[in-house]
Amino acid sequence: MTKEIFRTKSINEFISETKQDGGMKRVLGTFELTMLGIGCIVGTGIFVITGIAAANFAGPALVVSFIIAAIACGCAALCYSEFAAMVPVAGSAYTYGYVALGEFWAWVIGWDLVLEYTLALSTVAIGWSSYFTNILTNLGLTLPQAFIMSPEEGGMINVPAMAIIWIITLINIKGITQSSFVNNVIVVIKLAVVALFIGLGVSHVDAANWTPFMPYGWSGVFTGASIIFFAYIGFDAVSTAAEEVKNPQKDLPRGIICSLIICTILYIIVSAILTGMVPYLDFKNTAAPVAFALQSVGYGWGAAAVSVGAICGITSVLLVMCLGQSRILFVMSRDGLLPKFFGRINAKTKTPVRSSLLVAVISSVLAGVVPINVVAEMVNIGTLAAFIIVSASVIVLRKKAPDRIRPFRCPFVPVVPALAIIFCGILVIMLPTITQIRFVVWLAVGLAIYFGYGYQHSIITQVKKGALHAAAVPAAADTPAAEQNESTEASHVR
Ligand code: ALA
Repeated sequence: MTKEIFRTKSINEFISETKQDGGMKRVLGTFELTMLGIGCIVGTGIFVITGIAAANFAGPALVVSFIIAAIACGCAALCYSEFAAMVPVAGSAYTYGYVALGEFWAWVIGWDLVLEYTLALSTVAIGWSSYFTNILTNLGLTLPQAFIMSPEEGGMINVPAMAIIWIITLINIKGITQSSFVNNVIVVIKLAVVALFIGLGVSHVDAANWTPFMPYGWSGVFTGASIIFFAYIGFDAVSTAAEEVKNPQKDLPRGIICSLIICTILYIIVSAILTGMVPYLDFKNTAAPVAFALQSVGYGWGAAAVSVGAICGITSVLLVMCLGQSRILFVMSRDGLLPKFFGRINAKTKTPVRSSLLVAVISSVLAGVVPINVVAEMVNIGTLAAFIIVSASVIVLRKKAPDRIRPFRCPFVPVVPALAIIFCGILVIMLPTITQIRFVVWLAVGLAIYFGYGYQHSIITQVKKGALHAAAVPAAADTPAAEQNESTEASHVR
Protein backbone atom coordinates (compact mmCIF):
# COMPACT_ATOMS: atom_id res chain seq x y z
CA MET A 1 0.00 0.00 0.00
CA THR A 2 2.85 2.40 0.84
CA LYS A 3 4.13 1.99 -2.69
CA GLU A 4 0.62 2.28 -4.11
CA ILE A 5 -0.13 5.66 -2.59
CA PHE A 6 2.99 7.12 -4.19
CA ARG A 7 1.99 5.93 -7.67
CA THR A 8 2.31 8.68 -10.27
CA LYS A 9 0.40 9.45 -13.42
CA SER A 10 2.20 10.39 -16.59
CA ILE A 11 1.91 13.82 -18.15
CA ASN A 12 0.48 12.22 -21.27
CA GLU A 13 -2.36 10.60 -19.33
CA PHE A 14 -3.23 13.95 -17.84
CA ILE A 15 -3.09 15.67 -21.22
CA SER A 16 -5.29 12.98 -22.80
CA GLU A 17 -7.89 13.49 -20.09
CA THR A 18 -8.19 17.18 -20.94
CA LYS A 19 -10.05 16.04 -24.06
CA GLN A 20 -12.84 14.33 -22.15
CA ASP A 21 -16.30 15.82 -22.80
CA GLY A 22 -14.77 17.64 -25.77
CA GLY A 23 -12.48 19.67 -23.50
CA MET A 24 -12.81 23.31 -22.49
CA LYS A 25 -12.70 26.28 -24.86
CA ARG A 26 -9.14 27.44 -25.64
CA VAL A 27 -9.45 31.20 -25.98
CA LEU A 28 -6.94 32.77 -23.58
CA GLY A 29 -3.58 34.27 -24.58
CA THR A 30 -0.71 35.93 -22.67
CA PHE A 31 -2.61 39.22 -22.29
CA GLU A 32 -5.77 37.62 -20.87
CA LEU A 33 -3.71 35.44 -18.52
CA THR A 34 -1.70 38.40 -17.24
CA MET A 35 -4.97 40.25 -16.64
CA LEU A 36 -6.39 37.19 -14.83
CA GLY A 37 -3.26 37.14 -12.67
CA ILE A 38 -3.54 40.84 -11.81
CA GLY A 39 -7.28 40.34 -11.34
CA CYS A 40 -6.63 37.76 -8.66
CA ILE A 41 -3.57 39.37 -7.05
CA VAL A 42 -4.55 43.01 -6.43
CA GLY A 43 -7.33 43.10 -3.86
CA THR A 44 -7.85 42.89 -0.11
CA GLY A 45 -4.12 42.53 0.47
CA ILE A 46 -3.18 45.97 -0.79
CA PHE A 47 -6.46 47.75 -0.05
CA VAL A 48 -6.94 46.42 3.51
CA ILE A 49 -4.05 44.39 4.94
CA THR A 50 -1.24 46.89 4.25
CA GLY A 51 -2.52 49.17 7.03
CA ILE A 52 -2.75 46.35 9.58
CA ALA A 53 0.74 45.07 8.70
CA ALA A 54 2.32 48.55 8.88
CA ALA A 55 0.67 49.59 12.15
CA ASN A 56 1.15 46.34 14.05
CA PHE A 57 4.24 44.64 12.63
CA ALA A 58 6.46 46.20 10.02
CA GLY A 59 6.09 49.98 10.48
CA PRO A 60 7.52 51.96 7.53
CA ALA A 61 9.65 48.89 6.74
CA LEU A 62 6.47 47.48 5.20
CA VAL A 63 8.23 47.93 1.91
CA VAL A 64 10.90 45.45 3.07
CA SER A 65 8.15 42.98 4.05
CA PHE A 66 6.76 43.32 0.54
CA ILE A 67 10.20 42.63 -0.95
CA ILE A 68 10.72 39.52 1.23
CA ALA A 69 7.30 38.12 0.25
CA ALA A 70 8.08 38.98 -3.38
CA ILE A 71 11.30 36.92 -3.28
CA ALA A 72 9.38 33.91 -1.93
CA CYS A 73 6.67 34.36 -4.58
CA GLY A 74 9.12 35.10 -7.41
CA CYS A 75 11.05 31.86 -6.84
CA ALA A 76 7.79 29.91 -6.50
CA ALA A 77 6.43 31.54 -9.67
CA LEU A 78 9.44 30.31 -11.68
CA CYS A 79 8.79 26.78 -10.39
CA TYR A 80 5.08 27.06 -11.22
CA SER A 81 5.98 28.28 -14.70
CA GLU A 82 8.18 25.26 -15.39
CA PHE A 83 5.35 22.90 -14.49
CA ALA A 84 2.57 24.94 -16.07
CA ALA A 85 4.32 24.84 -19.45
CA MET A 86 5.17 21.14 -19.12
CA VAL A 87 1.83 19.94 -17.65
CA PRO A 88 -0.83 22.35 -18.96
CA VAL A 89 -3.67 20.81 -16.94
CA ALA A 90 -6.23 22.75 -14.88
CA GLY A 91 -5.36 21.02 -11.60
CA SER A 92 -2.33 23.31 -11.14
CA ALA A 93 -0.12 22.34 -8.20
CA TYR A 94 -2.28 19.27 -7.53
CA THR A 95 -1.45 17.88 -10.98
CA TYR A 96 2.24 18.79 -10.68
CA GLY A 97 2.37 16.88 -7.39
CA TYR A 98 0.72 13.86 -9.06
CA VAL A 99 3.30 13.81 -11.83
CA ALA A 100 6.38 14.29 -9.66
CA LEU A 101 5.65 12.94 -6.19
CA GLY A 102 2.68 10.62 -6.60
CA GLU A 103 -1.00 10.40 -5.66
CA PHE A 104 -0.60 10.82 -1.92
CA TRP A 105 1.23 14.13 -2.21
CA ALA A 106 -1.11 15.19 -4.99
CA TRP A 107 -4.05 14.69 -2.65
CA VAL A 108 -2.29 16.59 0.15
CA ILE A 109 -1.60 19.53 -2.14
CA GLY A 110 -5.10 19.39 -3.69
CA TRP A 111 -6.72 19.34 -0.25
CA ASP A 112 -4.46 22.20 0.70
CA LEU A 113 -5.60 24.18 -2.36
CA VAL A 114 -9.22 23.54 -1.42
CA LEU A 115 -8.39 25.22 1.89
CA GLU A 116 -6.63 28.12 0.20
CA TYR A 117 -9.33 28.89 -2.32
CA THR A 118 -12.45 28.19 -0.25
CA LEU A 119 -11.31 30.28 2.68
CA ALA A 120 -9.89 33.00 0.44
CA LEU A 121 -13.20 33.21 -1.39
CA SER A 122 -15.20 33.46 1.80
CA THR A 123 -12.81 35.96 3.40
CA VAL A 124 -12.66 38.17 0.35
CA ALA A 125 -16.46 38.01 -0.08
CA ILE A 126 -16.90 39.25 3.50
CA GLY A 127 -14.44 42.10 2.77
CA TRP A 128 -16.44 42.90 -0.38
CA SER A 129 -19.63 42.98 1.65
CA SER A 130 -18.25 45.52 4.14
CA TYR A 131 -17.02 47.83 1.35
CA PHE A 132 -20.38 47.47 -0.39
CA THR A 133 -22.46 48.23 2.69
CA ASN A 134 -20.18 51.21 3.44
CA ILE A 135 -20.80 52.66 0.02
CA LEU A 136 -24.57 52.13 0.45
CA THR A 137 -24.44 53.82 3.85
CA ASN A 138 -22.64 56.81 2.32
CA LEU A 139 -25.46 56.99 -0.21
CA GLY A 140 -27.97 57.07 2.65
CA LEU A 141 -29.07 53.44 2.38
CA THR A 142 -28.66 51.35 5.51
CA LEU A 143 -29.22 47.61 5.31
CA PRO A 144 -30.56 45.82 8.42
CA GLN A 145 -27.75 44.52 10.65
CA ALA A 146 -29.30 41.02 10.65
CA PHE A 147 -28.62 40.64 6.94
CA ILE A 148 -25.07 41.97 6.71
CA MET A 149 -23.38 40.11 9.55
CA SER A 150 -22.82 36.54 10.68
CA PRO A 151 -24.54 35.28 13.87
CA GLU A 152 -21.34 35.56 15.91
CA GLU A 153 -21.03 39.23 14.98
CA GLY A 154 -24.59 39.95 16.12
CA GLY A 155 -26.40 39.46 12.82
CA MET A 156 -28.09 36.51 11.15
CA ILE A 157 -26.59 36.09 7.74
CA ASN A 158 -24.27 38.08 5.49
CA VAL A 159 -26.46 38.37 2.40
CA PRO A 160 -24.20 40.65 0.25
CA ALA A 161 -21.23 38.30 0.78
CA MET A 162 -23.33 35.33 -0.37
CA ALA A 163 -24.89 37.23 -3.25
CA ILE A 164 -21.57 38.33 -4.78
CA ILE A 165 -20.29 34.73 -4.81
CA TRP A 166 -23.40 33.61 -6.71
CA ILE A 167 -23.22 36.50 -9.20
CA ILE A 168 -19.58 35.69 -9.93
CA THR A 169 -20.42 31.99 -10.26
CA LEU A 170 -23.12 32.72 -12.82
CA ILE A 171 -20.62 34.71 -14.92
CA ASN A 172 -18.07 31.90 -14.68
CA ILE A 173 -20.61 29.26 -15.65
CA LYS A 174 -21.58 31.22 -18.77
CA GLY A 175 -18.15 30.79 -20.28
CA ILE A 176 -14.47 31.61 -20.03
CA THR A 177 -14.79 34.38 -22.66
CA GLN A 178 -17.34 36.19 -20.51
CA SER A 179 -15.26 35.72 -17.34
CA SER A 180 -12.15 37.03 -19.06
CA PHE A 181 -13.98 40.05 -20.46
CA VAL A 182 -15.47 41.04 -17.09
CA ASN A 183 -12.06 40.53 -15.47
CA ASN A 184 -10.29 42.73 -18.06
CA VAL A 185 -12.71 45.61 -17.48
CA ILE A 186 -12.34 45.38 -13.70
CA VAL A 187 -8.56 45.16 -13.85
CA VAL A 188 -8.36 48.34 -15.95
CA ILE A 189 -10.46 50.17 -13.33
CA LYS A 190 -8.42 48.95 -10.39
CA LEU A 191 -5.08 49.70 -12.04
CA ALA A 192 -6.34 53.21 -12.81
CA VAL A 193 -7.23 53.67 -9.15
CA VAL A 194 -3.82 52.45 -7.99
CA ALA A 195 -2.18 54.84 -10.49
CA LEU A 196 -4.39 57.66 -9.17
CA PHE A 197 -3.22 56.94 -5.63
CA ILE A 198 0.42 56.96 -6.69
CA GLY A 199 -0.05 60.19 -8.67
CA LEU A 200 -1.84 62.02 -5.85
CA GLY A 201 0.16 60.57 -2.97
CA VAL A 202 3.73 60.92 -4.17
CA SER A 203 3.91 64.68 -3.61
CA HIS A 204 2.61 64.26 -0.04
CA VAL A 205 5.34 61.94 1.15
CA ASP A 206 7.10 63.27 4.22
CA ALA A 207 10.39 61.43 4.81
CA ALA A 208 9.99 62.06 8.56
CA ASN A 209 7.21 59.43 8.56
CA TRP A 210 9.78 56.78 7.59
CA THR A 211 11.61 57.12 10.93
CA PRO A 212 11.86 54.98 12.92
CA PHE A 213 12.05 52.68 9.91
CA MET A 214 11.81 49.35 11.76
CA PRO A 215 9.97 50.05 15.00
CA TYR A 216 9.31 46.34 15.63
CA GLY A 217 12.71 45.08 14.44
CA TRP A 218 13.38 42.30 11.93
CA SER A 219 10.89 39.98 13.57
CA GLY A 220 8.18 42.56 12.86
CA VAL A 221 9.33 42.82 9.26
CA PHE A 222 9.15 39.04 8.75
CA THR A 223 5.80 38.72 10.52
CA GLY A 224 4.60 41.57 8.31
CA ALA A 225 5.83 39.61 5.29
CA SER A 226 3.92 36.49 6.37
CA ILE A 227 0.74 38.57 6.61
CA ILE A 228 1.03 40.68 3.46
CA PHE A 229 1.97 37.50 1.59
CA PHE A 230 -1.82 37.36 1.12
CA ALA A 231 -1.50 40.32 -1.25
CA TYR A 232 0.55 38.22 -3.72
CA ILE A 233 -1.71 35.18 -3.77
CA GLY A 234 -3.29 34.82 -7.18
CA PHE A 235 -0.49 34.40 -9.71
CA ASP A 236 -0.77 30.67 -9.01
CA ALA A 237 -4.43 30.80 -10.05
CA VAL A 238 -3.31 31.61 -13.61
CA SER A 239 -2.16 28.01 -13.96
CA THR A 240 -5.66 26.68 -13.24
CA ALA A 241 -6.81 28.16 -16.57
CA ALA A 242 -4.33 25.87 -18.38
CA GLU A 243 -6.99 23.94 -20.32
CA GLU A 244 -8.50 27.17 -21.65
CA VAL A 245 -5.26 28.62 -23.05
CA LYS A 246 -4.46 28.78 -26.77
CA ASN A 247 -0.75 28.10 -26.46
CA PRO A 248 -0.15 26.97 -22.87
CA GLN A 249 3.56 26.19 -23.27
CA LYS A 250 4.33 29.83 -23.98
CA ASP A 251 1.40 31.78 -22.57
CA LEU A 252 1.23 30.25 -19.08
CA PRO A 253 4.79 31.10 -17.93
CA ARG A 254 4.43 34.58 -19.43
CA GLY A 255 1.06 35.18 -17.74
CA ILE A 256 2.31 33.96 -14.35
CA ILE A 257 5.58 35.90 -14.41
CA CYS A 258 4.26 39.14 -15.98
CA SER A 259 1.35 39.45 -13.55
CA LEU A 260 3.65 38.91 -10.57
CA ILE A 261 6.25 41.43 -11.80
CA ILE A 262 3.63 44.12 -12.46
CA CYS A 263 2.01 43.65 -9.06
CA THR A 264 5.34 43.53 -7.20
CA ILE A 265 6.40 46.87 -8.69
CA LEU A 266 3.03 48.42 -7.84
CA TYR A 267 3.09 47.06 -4.27
CA ILE A 268 6.56 48.37 -3.54
CA ILE A 269 5.66 51.85 -4.82
CA VAL A 270 2.28 51.91 -3.02
CA SER A 271 3.67 50.71 0.32
CA ALA A 272 6.53 53.25 0.24
CA ILE A 273 4.13 56.10 -0.55
CA LEU A 274 1.52 54.94 1.94
CA THR A 275 3.91 54.85 4.90
CA GLY A 276 5.45 58.13 3.76
CA MET A 277 2.10 59.96 3.70
CA VAL A 278 0.82 59.01 7.15
CA PRO A 279 2.59 58.01 10.42
CA TYR A 280 2.35 54.20 10.51
CA LEU A 281 0.54 54.16 13.86
CA ASP A 282 -2.37 56.08 12.33
CA PHE A 283 -3.26 52.96 10.33
CA LYS A 284 -4.19 51.10 13.54
CA ASN A 285 -7.87 51.89 13.29
CA THR A 286 -8.61 51.73 9.62
CA ALA A 287 -9.65 48.88 7.36
CA ALA A 288 -9.20 51.08 4.29
CA PRO A 289 -5.61 52.41 4.56
CA VAL A 290 -5.26 53.58 0.96
CA ALA A 291 -8.44 55.70 1.03
CA PHE A 292 -7.55 56.85 4.56
CA ALA A 293 -4.13 58.16 3.46
CA LEU A 294 -5.68 60.20 0.65
CA GLN A 295 -8.40 61.49 2.95
CA SER A 296 -5.85 62.58 5.53
CA VAL A 297 -3.98 64.76 3.04
CA GLY A 298 -7.21 66.37 1.87
CA TYR A 299 -8.23 64.33 -1.19
CA GLY A 300 -11.78 63.36 -0.18
CA TRP A 301 -12.73 62.69 -3.81
CA GLY A 302 -9.60 60.58 -4.27
CA ALA A 303 -10.57 58.51 -1.23
CA ALA A 304 -14.04 57.92 -2.73
CA ALA A 305 -12.48 56.85 -6.04
CA VAL A 306 -10.18 54.43 -4.19
CA SER A 307 -13.20 52.86 -2.45
CA VAL A 308 -14.84 52.20 -5.81
CA GLY A 309 -11.54 50.80 -7.14
CA ALA A 310 -11.18 48.61 -4.07
CA ILE A 311 -14.61 47.09 -4.50
CA CYS A 312 -13.87 46.44 -8.19
CA GLY A 313 -10.50 44.99 -7.28
CA ILE A 314 -11.99 42.66 -4.74
CA THR A 315 -14.65 41.54 -7.23
CA SER A 316 -12.06 40.32 -9.72
CA VAL A 317 -10.17 38.47 -6.98
CA LEU A 318 -13.43 36.62 -6.30
CA LEU A 319 -13.96 35.95 -9.98
CA VAL A 320 -10.56 34.36 -10.55
CA MET A 321 -10.59 32.50 -7.22
CA CYS A 322 -13.99 30.95 -8.10
CA LEU A 323 -12.62 30.03 -11.50
CA GLY A 324 -9.48 28.47 -10.01
CA GLN A 325 -11.24 26.55 -7.26
CA SER A 326 -13.80 25.06 -9.64
CA ARG A 327 -11.04 23.89 -12.03
CA ILE A 328 -9.02 22.23 -9.27
CA LEU A 329 -12.06 20.38 -7.86
CA PHE A 330 -12.99 19.43 -11.42
CA VAL A 331 -9.61 17.80 -12.10
CA MET A 332 -9.53 16.05 -8.71
CA SER A 333 -12.99 14.62 -9.48
CA ARG A 334 -11.96 13.67 -13.02
CA ASP A 335 -9.12 11.67 -11.41
CA GLY A 336 -11.60 9.94 -9.10
CA LEU A 337 -10.18 11.35 -5.84
CA LEU A 338 -13.48 13.22 -5.36
CA PRO A 339 -16.90 12.10 -6.72
CA LYS A 340 -16.74 11.76 -10.53
CA PHE A 341 -20.03 13.66 -10.75
CA PHE A 342 -18.08 16.92 -10.37
CA GLY A 343 -15.52 16.02 -13.02
CA ARG A 344 -17.66 16.80 -16.08
CA ILE A 345 -17.66 19.68 -18.55
CA ASN A 346 -21.00 21.15 -19.58
CA ALA A 347 -21.58 20.47 -23.28
CA LYS A 348 -23.10 23.88 -23.97
CA THR A 349 -20.96 26.32 -21.99
CA LYS A 350 -17.76 24.23 -22.06
CA THR A 351 -17.22 25.05 -18.39
CA PRO A 352 -17.19 22.73 -15.35
CA VAL A 353 -20.67 23.81 -14.21
CA ARG A 354 -21.09 21.17 -11.50
CA SER A 355 -17.82 21.91 -9.73
CA SER A 356 -18.51 25.66 -10.03
CA LEU A 357 -21.87 25.20 -8.29
CA LEU A 358 -20.26 23.09 -5.58
CA VAL A 359 -17.72 25.85 -4.92
CA ALA A 360 -20.49 28.46 -4.78
CA VAL A 361 -22.59 26.46 -2.31
CA ILE A 362 -19.72 25.81 0.12
CA SER A 363 -18.05 29.21 0.02
CA SER A 364 -21.29 31.20 0.10
CA VAL A 365 -22.53 29.31 3.16
CA LEU A 366 -19.19 29.96 4.89
CA ALA A 367 -19.22 33.62 3.88
CA GLY A 368 -22.82 33.97 5.05
CA VAL A 369 -22.57 32.57 8.54
CA VAL A 370 -18.94 32.41 9.70
CA PRO A 371 -16.84 35.40 10.80
CA ILE A 372 -13.64 34.67 8.96
CA ASN A 373 -11.12 37.27 10.12
CA VAL A 374 -8.96 34.77 11.99
CA VAL A 375 -9.01 32.03 9.40
CA ALA A 376 -7.70 34.45 6.74
CA GLU A 377 -4.25 33.41 7.94
CA MET A 378 -5.18 29.84 7.04
CA VAL A 379 -5.25 30.97 3.41
CA ASN A 380 -1.60 32.00 3.70
CA ILE A 381 -0.43 28.77 5.28
CA GLY A 382 -2.32 26.72 2.69
CA THR A 383 -0.79 28.63 -0.18
CA LEU A 384 2.72 28.59 1.31
CA ALA A 385 2.51 24.82 1.70
CA ALA A 386 1.45 24.50 -1.95
CA PHE A 387 4.39 26.66 -3.06
CA ILE A 388 6.80 24.51 -1.03
CA ILE A 389 5.52 21.23 -2.55
CA VAL A 390 5.59 22.62 -6.11
CA SER A 391 9.17 23.86 -5.64
CA ALA A 392 10.24 20.50 -4.23
CA SER A 393 8.52 18.80 -7.17
CA VAL A 394 10.67 20.76 -9.63
CA ILE A 395 13.83 19.40 -8.03
CA VAL A 396 12.42 15.85 -7.89
CA LEU A 397 11.28 15.79 -11.51
CA ARG A 398 14.57 17.23 -12.79
CA LYS A 399 16.21 14.18 -11.18
CA LYS A 400 13.57 11.62 -12.20
CA ALA A 401 13.11 12.78 -15.77
CA PRO A 402 16.03 15.01 -16.73
CA ASP A 403 15.44 14.68 -20.48
CA ARG A 404 11.79 15.60 -20.46
CA ILE A 405 10.97 18.49 -22.78
CA ARG A 406 10.55 21.61 -20.69
CA PRO A 407 9.17 24.51 -22.75
CA PHE A 408 10.07 26.79 -19.83
CA ARG A 409 12.95 26.01 -17.49
CA CYS A 410 13.19 27.48 -14.02
CA PRO A 411 16.71 29.00 -13.86
CA PHE A 412 19.43 27.87 -11.43
CA VAL A 413 17.79 24.63 -10.26
CA PRO A 414 18.10 23.57 -7.42
CA VAL A 415 19.01 27.03 -6.03
CA VAL A 416 15.82 28.86 -7.01
CA PRO A 417 13.40 26.12 -5.84
CA ALA A 418 15.47 25.77 -2.65
CA LEU A 419 15.18 29.52 -2.03
CA ALA A 420 11.41 29.28 -2.57
CA ILE A 421 11.24 26.44 -0.02
CA ILE A 422 13.39 28.33 2.52
CA PHE A 423 11.58 31.67 2.19
CA CYS A 424 8.10 30.10 2.20
CA GLY A 425 9.18 27.92 5.14
CA ILE A 426 10.26 31.03 7.10
CA LEU A 427 6.92 32.67 6.40
CA VAL A 428 5.06 29.55 7.61
CA ILE A 429 7.09 29.67 10.84
CA MET A 430 6.25 33.35 11.34
CA LEU A 431 2.50 32.67 11.24
CA PRO A 432 0.70 32.30 14.57
CA THR A 433 0.96 28.85 16.23
CA ILE A 434 -2.82 28.48 16.29
CA THR A 435 -2.84 28.80 12.49
CA GLN A 436 -0.21 26.07 12.24
CA ILE A 437 -2.23 23.79 14.54
CA ARG A 438 -5.42 24.37 12.54
CA PHE A 439 -3.53 23.55 9.38
CA VAL A 440 -2.34 20.21 10.78
CA VAL A 441 -5.95 19.40 11.80
CA TRP A 442 -7.12 20.27 8.27
CA LEU A 443 -4.52 17.94 6.79
CA ALA A 444 -5.56 15.15 9.17
CA VAL A 445 -9.18 15.49 7.99
CA GLY A 446 -7.92 15.40 4.41
CA LEU A 447 -5.97 12.19 5.01
CA ALA A 448 -9.05 10.54 6.52
CA ILE A 449 -10.99 11.42 3.34
CA TYR A 450 -8.20 10.16 1.11
CA PHE A 451 -7.91 6.77 2.81
CA GLY A 452 -11.69 6.51 3.28
CA TYR A 453 -12.66 7.50 -0.27
CA GLY A 454 -10.05 8.83 -2.66
CA TYR A 455 -7.66 5.89 -2.60
CA GLN A 456 -10.39 3.37 -3.53
CA HIS A 457 -12.09 5.56 -6.12
CA SER A 458 -8.96 6.89 -7.79
CA ILE A 459 -9.00 6.24 -11.53
CA ILE A 460 -5.71 4.40 -11.19
CA THR A 461 -7.18 1.95 -8.63
CA GLN A 462 -10.30 1.51 -10.72
CA VAL A 463 -8.32 0.70 -13.84
CA LYS A 464 -6.18 -1.72 -11.90
CA LYS A 465 -9.22 -3.50 -10.49
CA GLY A 466 -10.69 -3.66 -13.98
CA ALA A 467 -13.74 -1.69 -12.81
CA LEU A 468 -13.06 0.83 -15.53
CA HIS A 469 -12.21 -0.07 -19.04
CA ALA A 470 -8.60 0.90 -19.67
CA ALA A 471 -9.86 3.18 -22.43
CA ALA A 472 -11.22 5.50 -19.72
CA VAL A 473 -7.62 6.58 -19.28
CA PRO A 474 -6.64 7.09 -22.89
CA ALA A 475 -3.29 5.77 -23.93
CA ALA A 476 -0.57 8.37 -23.98
CA ALA A 477 0.39 7.74 -27.56
CA ASP A 478 -3.14 8.48 -28.81
CA THR A 479 -2.80 12.19 -28.30
CA PRO A 480 -1.13 14.79 -30.46
CA ALA A 481 0.19 16.38 -27.28
CA ALA A 482 1.91 13.16 -26.50
CA GLU A 483 3.86 13.38 -29.71
CA GLN A 484 4.83 16.92 -28.93
CA ASN A 485 5.96 15.99 -25.45
CA GLU A 486 7.86 12.92 -24.37
CA SER A 487 6.53 9.44 -24.94
CA THR A 488 9.25 7.32 -23.49
CA GLU A 489 9.60 9.27 -20.27
CA ALA A 490 6.08 8.49 -19.10
CA SER A 491 7.22 5.09 -17.93
CA HIS A 492 10.26 6.69 -16.35
CA VAL A 493 8.21 8.74 -14.00
CA ARG A 494 6.03 5.97 -12.73
N1 ALA B 1 -4.10 38.58 -3.43
C1 ALA B 1 -5.48 38.59 -3.20
C2 ALA B 1 -5.91 39.74 -2.40
O1 ALA B 1 -5.06 40.48 -1.97
C3 ALA B 1 -5.94 37.31 -2.59
O2 ALA B 1 -7.08 39.94 -2.19
